[in-house]
Amino acid sequence: MLPAFRLLSYPSYRAYVVPTLRNTGACGAIAMTVPLAALLPSARAPHPPVSGIVTAVRGSVIDVRFPGRLPPIYSLLHAGGDLRIAMEVLSHPDEQHVRGIALAPTQGLARGMAVADSGGPLKAPVGKAVLSRMFDVFGNAIDRKPEPTEVVWRSVHRAPPPLVKRLTKSEIFETGIKAIDVLAPLERGGKAGLFGGAGVGKTVLLTEIIHNMIGHENGVSIFCGIGERCREGEELYHAMEKAGVLPGMVMLFGQMNEPPGARFRVGYAALTMAEYFRDDQRRDVLLLIDNIFRFIQAGAEVSGLMGRMPSRLGYQPTMGTELSEVEERIASTDRGAITSIQAVYVPADDFTDPAAVHAFSHLSASLVLSRKRAAEGLYPAVDPLQSDSKMATPAVLGERHYRLAQAIRKTLAQYAGLQDIIAMLGLEQLSPEDRKTVGRARRLERFLTQPFFTTQQFTGKPGKQVSRADALDGCERILADEFKDVPEAALYMIGAIDEANVKAAKTDPKAPDAKPKSDASAAVSPAADQPHAT
Ligand SMILES: Nc1ncnc2c1ncn2[C@@H]1O[C@H](COP(=O)(O)OP(=O)(O)OP(=O)(O)O)[C@@H](O)[C@H]1O
Ligand SMILES: [Mg+2]
Repeated sequence: MLPAFRLLSYPSYRAYVVPTLRNTGACGAIAMTVPLAALLPSARAPHPPVSGIVTAVRGSVIDVRFPGRLPPIYSLLHAGGDLRIAMEVLSHPDEQHVRGIALAPTQGLARGMAVADSGGPLKAPVGKAVLSRMFDVFGNAIDRKPEPTEVVWRSVHRAPPPLVKRLTKSEIFETGIKAIDVLAPLERGGKAGLFGGAGVGKTVLLTEIIHNMIGHENGVSIFCGIGERCREGEELYHAMEKAGVLPGMVMLFGQMNEPPGARFRVGYAALTMAEYFRDDQRRDVLLLIDNIFRFIQAGAEVSGLMGRMPSRLGYQPTMGTELSEVEERIASTDRGAITSIQAVYVPADDFTDPAAVHAFSHLSASLVLSRKRAAEGLYPAVDPLQSDSKMATPAVLGERHYRLAQAIRKTLAQYAGLQDIIAMLGLEQLSPEDRKTVGRARRLERFLTQPFFTTQQFTGKPGKQVSRADALDGCERILADEFKDVPEAALYMIGAIDEANVKAAKTDPKAPDAKPKSDASAAVSPAADQPHAT
């Protein structure tokens, strides 16, 4: 079947529509319905296509006059001299006009130019042939390989599954990353968010999760890049190719150089593919989105361009609805599960920003990445006191894990409370019990760091994946003061806890079985291989 964008190179279509429109003149007052139905496969033409004339262009917003019947909302139109510029109908301002948003740059578009209705909405290719490929919002392959042929085109606008078909399993989705698996375990079939300001490690963490999960999971992975850097997409593609996991993966990109309409709709295209694998192929899907904030931002741009009154902080009044339209489609049903991990950029590190607040409310696990921890080099910079997961209950985690997670949080919270006193009066002024807490907390903080496979190239440390059992074991032994005499640095950027002894022995052969030192001196660690600041 022919994809929607192929209309542009559809010779008979072009030969018919363009001259016909030209003949109508710039005013385009002659009512005209082009009999395109015969040219288009019926499955892709839910309404008979019509033709119109551009009457206004304001940036990405285009007004088109259709002298006869108007194409319905969400119809995909093509405008311009060679019908190259795709646009989507978003409103019907009056009986003869539609207002739409361009999904491609509008350079060269002018009033009086022809517009052709594709006869249906924006569509995404689905089928097994999309696996291992990379696409843009229109379903064009952007990996320099031939377009996949064995695909079916489906509308990107679909309803979320009904309540009766939804399923929640409450099963843990292990990532092999200690800080996540111990403190905020992800839910299989759930939605997790990685929240953080600029440059705190969202993309790195997301890429590491992809690295750890793909290959271990039987399902399909879909990566959707929304409004981020093109370079990152390219790097990810090559990294996945090198790791040999491309055959189970699809990538879609609507990056920061693309118009807001494209960034706004690319998530819908990714969801359409995810739904195909879940519903038709009955496979589990891992859907990764970098970055859902850019989706909200694209929506705000579209809304502003359409002339709607902005809401709080300039966001669109329909932000909640738009986000729920996407998030509610990410659901697990009786046919398969969609597990989604989404990076959420938090503007100016302000977690009360309406975009962050709305995103929080949809997720079953939220991992907050803190700038302070990133600045100290404690990567992944997951803030244990702010991150949370719906899975963190004794019924799901088991009694031991739950108890340990609570004890870790308590220790770290006590340390956070003591930090002001330490800064003003020094560690020596603390009570012996508090000093012990500080020692434990600092060792826990360091143990919860981890070298990543994806950062191996620039950190020089080989990546480590740690099972939940090993991670819990390590935390339990630190809380039991087993490592109180081991230098803190030995616990920094290691995998399982036993590596601490090996590392300590390397730096100081006497360290693991050294005589007990005072807690104060134990807290001051050797400079080598330490986080940036303490
Ligand atoms: N686990 C890690 N180990 C070492 N360095 C890291 C780690 N995570 C992040 N970094 C450092 O932080 C930098 C920024 O990370 P990243 O690109 O993931 O941030 P981001 O939150 O996605 O930023 P943006 O909001 O700009 O997209 C990386 O280039 C790297 O230098
Ligand atoms: Mg990023």
